[in-house]
Amino acid sequence: MTTVLWLCLLVAALPLSSASQCNLPEELTKEIRSYREPVNQIIDAVTAGKYKGKTYDELAKFVDTFGARQVGGEVLEHSIDYLLELMQTKDYDLENVHGENVTVSRWIRGKESGEMIQPRPANIPVLTLGGSISTPTEGIEADVVVYRSFDELDANPSSAEGKIVVFNNDFVSYGVSVVYRTEGPTRAAKCGALAVLVRSVTSFSLNTLHTGQTDYTDGVKKIPAACITVEHAHMMQRYHDRNVTVRMRLNIQTQVDPDGVSRNTVAELKGSSIPDKTVIVSGHLDSWDVGVGAMDDGGGAFISWYSLVVLKGLGLRPKRTVRAVLWTSEEDGLIGVQSYNKTHEKELDDFVFVMESDEGTFTPLGLIFRAGTKGACILEEILKLLAPINATTAQNSDDAVGSDISIWKDLIPTASLLNDNDRYFWYHHSEADTMDVLDPSALDKATALWASVAYVIADLKDDFPRSFEKIEDSPGVAFQPKPTSFLVAVLVLCKFLFL
Ligand SMILES: *[C@@H]1O[C@H](CO)[C@@H](O)[C@H](O)[C@H]1NC(C)=O
Ligand SMILES: *[C@@H]1O[C@H](CO)[C@@H](O)[C@H](O)[C@H]1NC(C)=O
Ligand SMILES: *[C@@H]1O[C@H](CO)[C@@H](O)[C@H](O)[C@H]1NC(C)=O
Ligand SMILES: *[C@@H]1O[C@H](CO)[C@@H](O)[C@H](O)[C@H]1NC(C)=O
Ligand SMILES: [Zn+2]
Repeated sequence: MTTVLWLCLLVAALPLSSASQCNLPEELTKEIRSYREPVNQIIDAVTAGKYKGKTYDELAKFVDTFGARQVGGEVLEHSIDYLLELMQTKDYDLENVHGENVTVSRWIRGKESGEMIQPRPANIPVLTLGGSISTPTEGIEADVVVYRSFDELDANPSSAEGKIVVFNNDFVSYGVSVVYRTEGPTRAAKCGALAVLVRSVTSFSLNTLHTGQTDYTDGVKKIPAACITVEHAHMMQRYHDRNVTVRMRLNIQTQVDPDGVSRNTVAELKGSSIPDKTVIVSGHLDSWDVGVGAMDDGGGAFISWYSLVVLKGLGLRPKRTVRAVLWTSEEDGLIGVQSYNKTHEKELDDFVFVMESDEGTFTPLGLIFRAGTKGACILEEILKLLAPINATTAQNSDDAVGSDISIWKDLIPTASLLNDNDRYFWYHHSEADTMDVLDPSALDKATALWASVAYVIADLKDDFPRSFEKIEDSPGVAFQPKPTSFLVAVLVLCKFLFL
């Protein structure tokens, strides 16, 4: 029995010791550890020294000057001109600063209104989804039908015919719940609905509306689509469950201007000895037309170009080039990065590592990446250098990371900023996306992490390894220790059985 007991305790202890079992060559580990000094220099300069608070100050000036920066509009282009100039001022003096044309289209929100006429008159604020078509100019008037899920709709498809469909799906995660915004109009149109109102995709609401792009499917009738607040979706659900007839008027006017030119915004710190190899740091500059795009994605764009400012200012020029790319036209379908992928086709092999921050710049915790087994071990070792700001978490992902850079999922090692972003979707794509979401010291830490990781990877003797095998496939490496609950369960079982 003692043997069994020991075995049992051994199993319990396993998840702890498997937190990291990297077997990097000792020389490489040593090489990475030799960057402690420059990384500390970066951290000191950004969190306490000459760059303290600067990322926030520059971003605040930027969003206060330009506000929302929807693609296709001249405000975004003016904001790009401003940045191109700023990055070349004497203080910053970044290299190879330029814009790269991208053909874009512009979707324009017009008048939009929702009004309940039965069972009582009430204003129901709506925010049209990006890409939506218009209602007839006089609007539509129809009964409302509510579904908690596509399954509920599919169980009784004829119930949607001639109605305004409300999707009241609970927020599970953005990835899971956003399909009601993207696919809802097509699913409802197939059942003969006149229009769709989607519950705002958010984990928290103070009656806030959250827009975002919707997708129509070729060959299916396009119907107008907007979001309503979580609170109003819940109210519609309660009426529906009580069999109370709800009738609404809906008027949505939009237009599309197809032939615009925007730009991806580029700046560099040229590599000292292998300049053709490149590490990219990125975020997107375009935003929705509500709020001011401070969080989505002003933060990600600004920690990216500001990382170059810090490295240059500290005289830290790595062997390879570090390039900041501030994507355009992300929100309406990753148009900027796809154009970049085409115009830089011949360079893709030389993109050693690509980073994007587009899920918040709250207090940074580390990185989430898709980088293969050895790459994961290298990143884990690099992130140990970020201990002074507690941003050492190396989280492997078998799925794509980032937003724009997800197109390179199986081509180039990619990473996204892991940060304390539980509240990200409270503000996302809403009027609440303002500077007040951001914190100067969190932004400083994010800039420090971004600059440090880019610097080390761009300066290592060998190129970052390019492979994407699943971590589980290579024995001996696991980055996400089994949860404590597993440990507790095994211990409880052991106690129950043997003690
Ligand atoms: C970029 O687009 C502008 C028009 O918006 C045009 O004047 C310029 O020549 C274009 N540049 C290149 C390199 O195509
Ligand atoms: C609503 O109508 C359905 C179907 O007619 C019925 O089963 C249900 O009991 C009704 N609910 C209420 C609250 O009246
Ligand atoms: C990016 O470019 C590569 C090389 O030309 C191509 O294979 C790939 O399909 C492109 N990806 C996207 C999303 O356009
Ligand atoms: C890092 O975490 C430790 C322990 O939680 C804390 O004492 C320290 O202040 C943190 N440091 C920073 C820079 O946040
Ligand atoms: Zn974004």
